[in-house]
Amino acid sequence: MPATVVIGAQWGDEGKGKVVDLLAERSDVVARYQGGNNAGHTIVADEQVYKLHLVPSGILYPGTICVIGNGTVVDPGALVTEIDGLEERGVSLDGLKLSGNAHLIMPYHVMLDGAAEMRLGRFSIGTTRRGIGPCYEDKAARVGIRAQDLLDPKILVRKLEVALEAKNEILEKLWGMPRLEPERVAEDQLRYAERLRPFIDDTALIIDEALRDGKRVLFEGAQGTMLDIDHGTYPFVTSSNPTAGAACTGTGIGPTRIDRVLGVTKAYVTRVGEGPFPTELDDDDGRRMLERGNEFGTTTGRQRRCGWLDLVALRYAARLSGMTGLALTKLDVLSGFERVKLCVAYRDRDGNRLTVFPYHQTVFHGCTPEYEELPGWHEDLSDCRELDDLPPRARAYVERISEAVEVPITLIGTGQGRHQVIDVVDVTG
Ligand code: IMP
Repeated sequence: MPATVVIGAQWGDEGKGKVVDLLAERSDVVARYQGGNNAGHTIVADEQVYKLHLVPSGILYPGTICVIGNGTVVDPGALVTEIDGLEERGVSLDGLKLSGNAHLIMPYHVMLDGAAEMRLGRFSIGTTRRGIGPCYEDKAARVGIRAQDLLDPKILVRKLEVALEAKNEILEKLWGMPRLEPERVAEDQLRYAERLRPFIDDTALIIDEALRDGKRVLFEGAQGTMLDIDHGTYPFVTSSNPTAGAACTGTGIGPTRIDRVLGVTKAYVTRVGEGPFPTELDDDDGRRMLERGNEFGTTTGRQRRCGWLDLVALRYAARLSGMTGLALTKLDVLSGFERVKLCVAYRDRDGNRLTVFPYHQTVFHGCTPEYEELPGWHEDLSDCRELDDLPPRARAYVERISEAVEVPITLIGTGQGRHQVIDVVDVTG
């Protein structure tokens, strides 16, 4: 029985939402396993645009169980807003399940995220300022607040007292911010508790039972490989593991239960926030990608940095997550370029040619791309639904990527709409 993990193969924003949405149609359970409302998915369904941050994309299919797993961090206010917004638009939330073990983003996490970014000044990470990092910090420090604490007001206040003891010192003495009273914070959170109570559950058990019953489970990664706290471009990363291994710890199932790992990559590269990006463009080609691809963040509205596809980084992503398939999104954006480029190797500062992603940040920061050029294509791809519909040059581009990464391309995105896709192989099988 297939359990499939979908991960971002780049710096996030690869179009995972659309891919997950498509696969969710063929899945019984969709589970988020890391990250929080720093993520943002735009889904276009029946000419309606949905922007999801926390709720798994499967929610648009009635009957699908949508799990927000223990490895995620959840801002209760943001989740309630998202739930209310979906309900107002007639989307049923019956299938939503929130892990009782998921950590909650408290108001002080958001305050501390913003303050830390300000302190870093020109060294700032460019976080989404949603409190993600500080929440994961508290999880590791064992002073976090979990979804299950919302169900026990006494415990909630006690835990907030412990957490705020140190936080208030930092807020007041370091940042000159007002102290927060545990009772007041608890009062605010308990307002959300009533709304969230019906969704809180033992989600690891729900997923295990689904797998035992032969149901199809999709694990939806947020952000991307290069933002992974262990394997990404540290410190310019998020505070969790978007790579496939985290699907296990982030939902509570063993690695032997996973059958497939689908990586999602754009046909080019984008990045928001700070940090190295070897193929970044500051020219007309980059501006063309920005405009044609409408490259503005779903969560923060920030303009994304754009560049040619980096096959060295993509091979690295395929290796780290044991990818069995690759979804190539936004191929249509590249129509109209005279030639398209693929980064096949890096040159380090000493001129050495590197085809393996360098582990040392000093080497990576000094890398420049070595490109292979392919002829571009001018045809509009928005109506392509089969591989054979692609103009030969676009098809050659796709085949070159698959050959370099040694992973079959299983899906190709040819437009924003839900069905503007070439479904090469049924990856959920
Ligand atoms: P944080 O996750 O808010 O702590 O931000 C850390 C880094 O990850 C920053 O560079 C963010 O721009 C980036 N980031 C976080 N979430 C996303 C996402 O969903 N897409 C793209 N970049 C993200």
